[in-house]
Amino acid sequence: MIDKILNKTTLDRDDIIFLLNLNTNDSTKLFEKSIEIKNKNIGNKVYFRGLIEFSNICEKDCFYCGIRKSNSNFKRYNLTDSEILDSAKFAYTEKYGSIVLQSGEISSCKFTNRIENLLREIKTLSNNTLGVTISLGEQSEKTYKKWFKAGAHRYLLRIETSSKDLYEKIHPKNKKHSFEDRLNCLKLLKETGYQVGTGVMVGLPFQTIENLADDLLFMKNLDIDMCGMGPYIEHEDTPLFRYKTKLLSPRKRFVLTLKMIAILRIIMPNINIAASTAMQAIDPIGREKALKIGANIIMPNITPVTFRNDYSLYKNKPCTNEEASDCKNCLEARINIAGSEIAYNEWGDSLHFTNKHKNKLSQI
Ligand code: 5AD
Ligand code: FES
Repeated sequence: MIDKILNKTTLDRDDIIFLLNLNTNDSTKLFEKSIEIKNKNIGNKVYFRGLIEFSNICEKDCFYCGIRKSNSNFKRYNLTDSEILDSAKFAYTEKYGSIVLQSGEISSCKFTNRIENLLREIKTLSNNTLGVTISLGEQSEKTYKKWFKAGAHRYLLRIETSSKDLYEKIHPKNKKHSFEDRLNCLKLLKETGYQVGTGVMVGLPFQTIENLADDLLFMKNLDIDMCGMGPYIEHEDTPLFRYKTKLLSPRKRFVLTLKMIAILRIIMPNINIAASTAMQAIDPIGREKALKIGANIIMPNITPVTFRNDYSLYKNKPCTNEEASDCKNCLEARINIAGSEIAYNEWGDSLHFTNKHKNKLSQI
């Protein structure tokens, strides 16, 4: 049965459910297939995105997230422009190729203008060579366009779950947390011209295997260019913590995330898939395991060390006490051991996106 499914040209919903339910032994076959597809389509290069989590101030109140507005049990921070630019410069001189600017969600004019300026400055300080991904939540079409024009070319906005029903269980019921708005933002981002990344959390309370299969099909239908998926990790200062006894074990959530990555690689062979930090929060070499079976992007944290402990979406975030350069060294060693090679000084755009646009141009 498994061999038959893995040899099909397209996987349907039932096939995906079957693969997500595989036992440990049979999962090896799934991973062999995803490794084969990865090597054939995108090779063994890993691209760096230096992650700058520049502020943990957030206007939203997601039930799973440690930096939600209602959590007053920790310190809020907001880096200065020069701290952000220093981090970007660090990424530039260390040949990371690209950065990701991420923060809690804020939509004020002051904030959107600030980001616009920062984007221009980052482009200037790196002689236009640093690729810039942003992950700044739901914004207006005008803002998305403004930031694109200022130099951001990739945008990450996780759908968190493609099930409206589950989405509403893990977010407050109000206008600020609308599933439809989230979907619309993904559409706007695509129309604006960004390489668009989305993703989900794996192992959420109330989440079923069917939900996860639908998440993968959702990404395929949306024709995304990039994906970041990670295991859900309960945070004691959030409303969802009360369901902690109902969750799969962290190990099971981790393995399920690996399966999600492997299946996504099979159904979308040339997109960029990130090995998320949350994987390392469960397994010390979790990200490397993800890279091995299908992911090709890693996002080393280059936020100045003093603030790193405060960007606590969940507990046990790794490397919060290390200098970014140490991280680079230890990552390099681990990635090489896992059989991959880091591509320094390259943007590492999604091949899926590049090919789509080549085809469009050739039709003109
Ligand atoms: N566990 C795992 N991932 C989380 N995120 C937020 N809170 C958690 C958590 N408790 C993820 C969300 C968000 C991304 C920035 O971090 O998917 O989109
Ligand atoms: Fe900040 Fe969800 S709590 S975006």
